[in-house]
Amino acid sequence: MAATDTGDANRAGAGSAGGELEAELARLLAVESFDPPAGFTPRQPEQADARDAAADPVGFWAAKARELLSWDKPFTRVLDDTNPPFYRWFDDGELNVSANCLDRHVAAGLGERVAYHWRGEEGERRDVTYAELLADTQKLANGLLSLGVAAGDVVGIYLPMIPEVAVAMLACARIGAVHNVVFGGFAPSAVRERMEVSDAKVLITVDGARRKGRTAAVKAGVDEEMADLPKLEHVVVVRSTGPVGGVETAMRAGRDVWYDELLAAADPVCPPAPLGAEHPLFILYSSGSTAKPKGILHTTGGYLLGATYTHRAVFDLDPETDVYWCSADVGWITGHSYIVYGPLSNGVTSVMYEGAPDYPDFDIWWQLIAEYKVTIFYTAPTAIRACIKWGAEYPARHDLSSLRVLGSVGEPINPKAWLWYHEVIGGGRCPIVDTWWQTETGSIMISPIPGITSTKPGSATRPLPGITPALLTEDGEPLAEGTGVLVITSPWPSMLRTLYRDDERFVQTYFSRFGPRTYLVGDAARLDADGYFWIIGRIDDVINVSGHRLSTAEVESALVSHEAVAEAAVVAQADADTGQAIVAFVTLRGDQVGDDDMIAELRDHVAHRIGKLARPRRVIWAEDLPKTRSGKIMRRLLRDVAEGRELGDVTTLRDPSVMAALAAKVATAP
Ligand code: WT7
Repeated sequence: MAATDTGDANRAGAGSAGGELEAELARLLAVESFDPPAGFTPRQPEQADARDAAADPVGFWAAKARELLSWDKPFTRVLDDTNPPFYRWFDDGELNVSANCLDRHVAAGLGERVAYHWRGEEGERRDVTYAELLADTQKLANGLLSLGVAAGDVVGIYLPMIPEVAVAMLACARIGAVHNVVFGGFAPSAVRERMEVSDAKVLITVDGARRKGRTAAVKAGVDEEMADLPKLEHVVVVRSTGPVGGVETAMRAGRDVWYDELLAAADPVCPPAPLGAEHPLFILYSSGSTAKPKGILHTTGGYLLGATYTHRAVFDLDPETDVYWCSADVGWITGHSYIVYGPLSNGVTSVMYEGAPDYPDFDIWWQLIAEYKVTIFYTAPTAIRACIKWGAEYPARHDLSSLRVLGSVGEPINPKAWLWYHEVIGGGRCPIVDTWWQTETGSIMISPIPGITSTKPGSATRPLPGITPALLTEDGEPLAEGTGVLVITSPWPSMLRTLYRDDERFVQTYFSRFGPRTYLVGDAARLDADGYFWIIGRIDDVINVSGHRLSTAEVESALVSHEAVAEAAVVAQADADTGQAIVAFVTLRGDQVGDDDMIAELRDHVAHRIGKLARPRRVIWAEDLPKTRSGKIMRRLLRDVAEGRELGDVTTLRDPSVMAALAAKVATAP
């Protein structure tokens, strides 16, 4: 059944009693497919793109690269696929990412356009223009050069959501340094690991970070963990906490420099370095099947093209009139591609918000949307589910009629959340783009095009022009319909190039199962009769908590690093709020007592080692874990008990009685 939805602003939201909203959502749950809202006229020529890309994908990307990016030296070769899976795009061309994001807009007379309407947690505001971003980027680039950073060196960035994070990334891009951003919510020890394995020369961080009225002393944590990293020569510190909740910050002579002092002393002019299109732009560590995070490497030309093109196409962007807001954190790929590189390369005005969605009150997001007349809003299903819990009265307090397009990313969006987003936030008139992609893909791969694609709540719909996903059976047979393993069958410009300094793991992880020309995504999916993709979830030991990727092995290794723990196995359990939640089965050492205090201690321990988001939701004491005769832990069985399912085949276990004991434990555990 299809429905054309032409609702008025906030129709189901404002005013209407909770009961009416519930009834309307229940009615819509039966609607399988939504035609593009009748009042929505697309601005971007994506239908033509789809035709061009189908006829000649490589030629399509070449045309987009010429149209959307400014090149210092035009490329003559588009795709080099002679050594798969090590693909190269535009490789004899030269360009600079920061020049594409800043200089070209300023040169076109747009210097006074606001790049970021920044809002701090305590209501502070800063409007940063493209000209100001360019000025600071040049100074920081010169500052980094003065600290000895050269093209190809790695610079760590561990900053909260403040404009300086964009300046830091762009300054690296300007001189060809490779940034390695670590999410501000990760613990300093996770930062240390990522600095160590990438041999970072400089780390750019902050005195302290604010969260819901409290200030965490970030630099102090960095000092504790990073006193002895031989390759780390300098720490640049942004003064951010200011008069509100300021923290004392010790500076080590010879190593530490204040960001503002570095900028003040720097030459204001730093010409952008023309870099080869395959020059590395950044590494971003992401979780995989082992405890060791993967350093996903993206390069200059292809990545910037992917971010720029998809940001335009998927959000139907008009840089002249749109005000865009992505609520992610810059520390994730979503922030890299859709807070920094895509929006800046397209020259649009964005909102950047430092704080939490529920502080000072549950309506802060909607207040910001109304105040800045945001037209495009991009967030995650887990956030939408939180908003549903808080209630429709919070968005109803504000005028959301400026919104045109709504985006979702990070995990499958359940139809109920989709409908609430559509009705309560979008007033029934905004197309929803459910965007499927990964850190590895660099930019959005499967998504509706607003105003063109009919949407089905819960499906990311169809591939973007130039992208070729397919479903395979376990044996590698293509499936025209049904459930299978998701792959991408041809290279695309913004694909990862390798895992940093680990080509072997790159090939092994993504290109060994179906050969060097078929990218293994790591997700299972269903393909329906209309050619729509429905992402089911990961097929590896990766857990998706609130759209954040965590590896079971990483959490396990954090748990066993606690002296009381003998062994641990971590699985995901479906969760109504966070999509998945972490359940840890823990065997304690003989002399230890598994009580509530110990649960609290282990959760804290994981938070300290990795970050709060990795804290297990449940800890279940296990006398023994289900293992095969060869000693491999059978996580499938643990998932079954955690989610209260009938247990599958236990005959391959060394000791089948283990499962009955665990099932009894789970039934009584909190
Ligand atoms: C994994 C990638 C891409 C930025 C955020 C996460 C899951 C992502 C969707 C979606 C269903 C999704 C997949 C994917 N995922 N977007 N729209 N629908 N699942 O990036 O940390 O690299 O995680 O997130 O499982 O493989 P990431």
